[in-house]
Amino acid sequence: MTDDTINRMDNPVCPASLDEVTLASPEVLECPFPTYELIREEAPVFHDPLTGMYVVSRYKDIRRVALDQENFSNHRYSNDPERLEGNARLAYEMFLKHGWVPGKSLAARDEPEHKQMRSLFDEAFRPRRIKEIESGVAHLAYDLFDDFIDDGACDYVKQYAVPLPLIIICKQMGAKDRDIWQIKAWTDAWIKGVGFGLTREDVIWATEMEIQAQHYFQAIFEELRRQPNDTLLSDLVNNEVPGWGRTLTDNELHAEMMQDTFVGGSETTTNAMAAGIMLLDRNPEVWEKLSADPDRYLATFVEEVVRLEGPVQGLSRIAKNDVEIQGVKIPKGAVIDIRFGAANRDKRHFENPDTIDLERKNAASHLGYSTGVHYCLGAPLARRELFWGFKAFLDNIESFRVVPEKNKLRHLPNYGLRILKELHIEFEAKEKRHRPDNLDEQAATMFQPPP
Ligand code: HEM
Repeated sequence: MTDDTINRMDNPVCPASLDEVTLASPEVLECPFPTYELIREEAPVFHDPLTGMYVVSRYKDIRRVALDQENFSNHRYSNDPERLEGNARLAYEMFLKHGWVPGKSLAARDEPEHKQMRSLFDEAFRPRRIKEIESGVAHLAYDLFDDFIDDGACDYVKQYAVPLPLIIICKQMGAKDRDIWQIKAWTDAWIKGVGFGLTREDVIWATEMEIQAQHYFQAIFEELRRQPNDTLLSDLVNNEVPGWGRTLTDNELHAEMMQDTFVGGSETTTNAMAAGIMLLDRNPEVWEKLSADPDRYLATFVEEVVRLEGPVQGLSRIAKNDVEIQGVKIPKGAVIDIRFGAANRDKRHFENPDTIDLERKNAASHLGYSTGVHYCLGAPLARRELFWGFKAFLDNIESFRVVPEKNKLRHLPNYGLRILKELHIEFEAKEKRHRPDNLDEQAATMFQPPP
């Protein structure tokens, strides 16, 4: 891999042979692409000795797994008291005593209950609803720039990429704009709690934070039961799940809050926004081409960012039967890691896969949002958030640079998610900042920047 568009770090781990390969290492995951390349070519179903997981890395194979409900399950619910030990048991006991043991989330269910539960979310993510809020998303994207445009510098993650999607999901989930930093602290803790090398103290802290969040959201659930409104959360709280004859329990709602909505729906978009700016910094010719004609190239750029730097690098499935992929026998019950990040750079599907190509015809066919029945529910919203996030950047910023001295440029140690904590940039604002004049003015206050 020689291209500039790979996420360069000083010394990416480049295993010389399969004997050296593992993905369960923060150093490897900092820049996993050389490792992906080796396994994709030499062991497309790689049985990782450290984790015991079967890592699937080719585009076609991942599609096959994600589309095959007969043989592969999403049932990765881990709060079964019979099987819990160590830190997981400790967290379970704390939830039981002080909060709510999180139930099975949407993403962890199989058919038919998955489809039934997913229908609760449908209304909020219908194209019509996304269109209705689109002007609001755009206004927010431009308004956020007003806060720091005169400074000539910002932490793009903290001041822009975090608030944009978080404010939008807060509104949908009935949380107050003013609480976004508290909610961000809870989602950060949640992510840390599913990261590498946790001590007992880390687990206690992350669980306490999640329990705090549960009490905050529980008050909102109860209010919405008394007084339903038109938010997504009100639908989740009050509508019966078709076929279940009941609404979601508090435990199930709490699982939705953290995993599927606040982490799934804001951390992901935040990280794609940060990755996009990092890629533009490293590929000045792409910046030039994109800023010269955003109408033509921006939609493809948005896809290329998620393809190259997918915020969700991989997720797991469980083999429901003995199966075989690429000649490798996978026993029933084994955990399979479908590595979207590796599939998205598979040269069998994408020409020059490590390069950002603003002319790429099949850019949107990447697997960064997965595929099949669990295809990302928020993808239509994420695409509009990313579009407006980058559009406002292009309309406000003449030139910029990532400041090496101020950035660690390290991702958080996490097996499945790719998260950049900060991105300090310096910039020169456009002399005449542009703001589209066809935005719906009534949507100007739909989402408010944080105080
Ligand atoms: C760039 C942004 C995003 C990325 C890369 C992303 C990625 C993904 C991926 C890979 C899955 C598949 C899970 C699987 O196959 O098991 C998924 C599912 C999901 N995503 Fe996203 N997501 C993004 C934004 C969002 C947003 C904005 C929301 C909501 C506001 C959201 C909500 C969900 C939910 C609820 C699921 C579970 C769907 C199901 O299991 O039926 N995501 N996402």
